Amino acid sequence: MTDVGIDAIEIWTGKLKLDLPNTFAPAKGEDPEKYTKGLGLNASSFPDTYEDIVTMGANAAHRLMEHEGLTPEDIGRIDVATESSFDNSKPVSTYIAGCLERVYEGKFSHANKGERKFACLAGTQSIDDAYNWIKSGRNRGRSALVIATDTALYARNDPGEATQGAGAVAMLISEDPDLVSLSTEQGYGSADETDFLKPNQQFPSVDGKRSVQVYLARMREALEDFEGVAGRTHTDDFAYIPFHTPFPGMVRKAALFGYRHMIRDTSMEDDLAGEIGRQPREEAFDSEGDFEEALREYMDGLKRTDAYQEWYARVVDPTLTISREVGNWYTGSVHLARASALKTAFEEGRELAGERLLVGSYGSGAQAEIHAETVQPGWEEKIADLTIDEGIERRYDLDYDEYERVHDVHNHDIESDGDGEIEEFTAPESEFVFDGWGRM
Ligand code: CAA
Repeated sequence: MTDVGIDAIEIWTGKLKLDLPNTFAPAKGEDPEKYTKGLGLNASSFPDTYEDIVTMGANAAHRLMEHEGLTPEDIGRIDVATESSFDNSKPVSTYIAGCLERVYEGKFSHANKGERKFACLAGTQSIDDAYNWIKSGRNRGRSALVIATDTALYARNDPGEATQGAGAVAMLISEDPDLVSLSTEQGYGSADETDFLKPNQQFPSVDGKRSVQVYLARMREALEDFEGVAGRTHTDDFAYIPFHTPFPGMVRKAALFGYRHMIRDTSMEDDLAGEIGRQPREEAFDSEGDFEEALREYMDGLKRTDAYQEWYARVVDPTLTISREVGNWYTGSVHLARASALKTAFEEGRELAGERLLVGSYGSGAQAEIHAETVQPGWEEKIADLTIDEGIERRYDLDYDEYERVHDVHNHDIESDGDGEIEEFTAPESEFVFDGWGRM
């Protein structure tokens, strides 16, 4: 049976940068290391005032179509994943298709369009939808365009403010993909949760500390469900494990829990027992509190072992390189993590074709999905095409007053003139920009 998966990818970052240690930390009176070491972030990407989820998504999709040599005829489906939608009726994909139709002769009238919502998980769910559409044979030889686009802003002084970000990831889902193929091995962890909500409001209402616990709980359930299909996972089964990355510190926690799960009842647990003891088993404790205390101690020890640190540096840390510089992109975040890992492997000249990735996606509300992917022989050429480094380099570095003005414009507190809010940085003519009335 034909493989289906991600054939190509393009990443578009918001044009502005908020430097966390040098601009944000002094303005907030915080130690810069809270951001760089604690959260693991150096900077956030911000949309300029002429950018929004449509322009970022359209620019990413346009660039992808250009370097893949595609026309609208080649695309049978456009799905947009976002939690920043501004229209409860018309999907963002129709706005993006409208932009693209200004530069291509053909129309997307034959393409099925939709918008997917499940917080940050929706990008992966859109890929799943495209996979099922192609596997069912309804695609008639065409590919699907999946665009994960978000402006992840928090209210000022909300603890989440340090984890903001904005950008779009466009992905082409096709038969015989060049980047990664998807497998049927997939697991879920899902529960009705209220730690992160945006009920018809611009900024999320978040219980940040609880959201971290919910993420870990759903991810653990998803891993167990995944193992129900794929069998036991082991630490050396996967070249990389890209996780949803609201901030790298979250992934540090998720990776440690995943590692502990993978080594339980194995010779690795035996090998480490002399150093840190065996994993506490819940049934051996009279109270939940005692078990949790013992588990905390074990995890503290595990984190410090050479075995764990070597594994983390090799399998997880390479997934964080882009995220550290751009912050949380919600639906795009896990796809940045995959791209970071493949980019690192490419830069190191590593041979990766045939190796497997374990991808951990997550959306508040809450649901985690874990699935496996296999890297394809054409991956290097597709990763060599990525222009994200230039995008990151080119961003305009905001001072704190400029940051507040741009934040206000995106919150509709002050009007934009439709051009760049920052004098030095005006809307370019060769890109889709939001001009206050329409998108050019
Ligand atoms: N030097 C080094 N480290 C420092 C430090 C310093 N000077 N000061 C603090 N730290 C460390 C802390 O110890 C902490 O690390 P640990 O968690 O490992 O202990 C880390 O920096 C963060 O510090 P705080 O916990 O004090 O930070 P905070 O309370 O101000 O904010 C947060 C943390 C609650 C997660 C906040 O960023 C937030 O609300 N974020 C938005 C919600 C979010 O991203 N949740 C993630 C799960 S939900 C999800 O994934 C969906 C999504 O995309 C939103």
